[in-house]
Amino acid sequence: MITEIGQDISKAAILLRTGALVAIPTETVYGLAGNALNSEAVINLFEVKGRPRFNPLIMHLPSLAAAEHYVTHIPAPLRLLADQFSPGPLSYLLPKSSLVPDLITAGSDKVVIRVPSHPMTLELLQQLEIPLAAPSANPFGYVSPVTAEHVKEGLDGKIPYILNGGPCSVGLESTIVGMEGDQIIIHRLGGVTAEDIFHVTGIKPGFSLLHKKPDTPGQLMSHYAPAKPLIVGDLSTLVAAHAGKKLAVISFTDHRVDVHISKVMSPSGDLHEAAANLFAVLRELDKSDAELILAELFPATGIGQAINDRLSRAGGRI
Ligand code: TXA
Ligand code: MG
Repeated sequence: MITEIGQDISKAAILLRTGALVAIPTETVYGLAGNALNSEAVINLFEVKGRPRFNPLIMHLPSLAAAEHYVTHIPAPLRLLADQFSPGPLSYLLPKSSLVPDLITAGSDKVVIRVPSHPMTLELLQQLEIPLAAPSANPFGYVSPVTAEHVKEGLDGKIPYILNGGPCSVGLESTIVGMEGDQIIIHRLGGVTAEDIFHVTGIKPGFSLLHKKPDTPGQLMSHYAPAKPLIVGDLSTLVAAHAGKKLAVISFTDHRVDVHISKVMSPSGDLHEAAANLFAVLRELDKSDAELILAELFPATGIGQAINDRLSRAGGRI
C-alpha cells in the first residue's frame, strides 16, 4: 500500500467512511483514526499500531453535544471544564452508553471522549457523522508523532493517507480527566494542567497516575520511549558519570558545551515551547549517533509536569 501525505479533508472523509485508516492532525499529537462504530476498522487499527486489545481507544467527536449519545452522564464539573477547554487538549473519561462498542473501551463501562481543536480535524469530524477512534499514530510504545513525516516514519505502507496539518502546537497528548464521586481525577497529564483544572472548577484534582496499578492502561512503564537509553536526572552528575560516551543532552534553558549533542528546549524558558518540541527532539536524538540520551527534569509547574511525566516514562522510571 502506498501512503500518501496530503491536505484533502474530503478524501480523508471518504476513506474513513469506507472503513480505511487515516492519520489525522490534532493540536496534541497525530492520531491514527478509524470509524469507531466499524469493528473491522477498529480491529485493523489495533493491528496496524501493534497495540494490545486490552488498551482502550479515545473516541473523537466534533463537540461535546455530539458526544451526548455515547455517554450516559456528564458530571457538572466536567461540563465546566468542557466549556473552557473543548475543543482542546482535554479528554473526558465518562460512563459509556450502549452505542459505544466494547472493542473501543476494552470491555470497560467507561469511554474516553475528546474534541480536538485542530481546524482540519474539526472540519473532518463535522463532515463525518461518525465518531473516530484515534490512538496516537505511532507504533505501540514509541514516541508519539507531532508531524506528518513522523507518522510516515512509523506507519509507511500500512495506511493509505496522512492528512497533513503541519506540526502539532501542543506537542504532548491530551490530559485525561474523570470523576470519582465529587473528586476530579487526572488519569494522564497533558496539554491542560492541574492548575487549569483547579482554576476552572475550584476542585483540586487527584492523580490516578501516581498509583502503582493505574486505571489508564496507557500509563505503562517505558511508554513513549526512544530506542536509545535515556536517563533523567541532574545533568552535571550524569554527564560526569558517563564521561567518555557520546552523550546527547536535553536541557530546558542552558546549553552544555562539554557533550556530543546539546539540545536546549527553550532558551527563553517557555515551557510550552519546550513541550511542543520535545517529541521531535527525542526522535532526532534517537536517529543520531549519540550512545546515550540524558535529560534534566523541567520546572514542575503547568505543562512542565506533563513534560517530566513523558521524560520519566521515556526513561522507564515510572
Ligand atoms: O492527545 C491525545 O489524546 C491523542 C490524540 C490523537 O487525540 N490520543 C492519544 O491516544 O493519546 P492514545 O490511545 O495514544 O492514548 C489514550 C490513552 C491510553 O493510555 C488509554 O489506555 C487511555 O487513554 N484510555 C482510553 N480509553 C480509556 C478508557 N475507557 N478507560 C481508561 N483509559 C482509557
Ligand atoms: Mg499513545
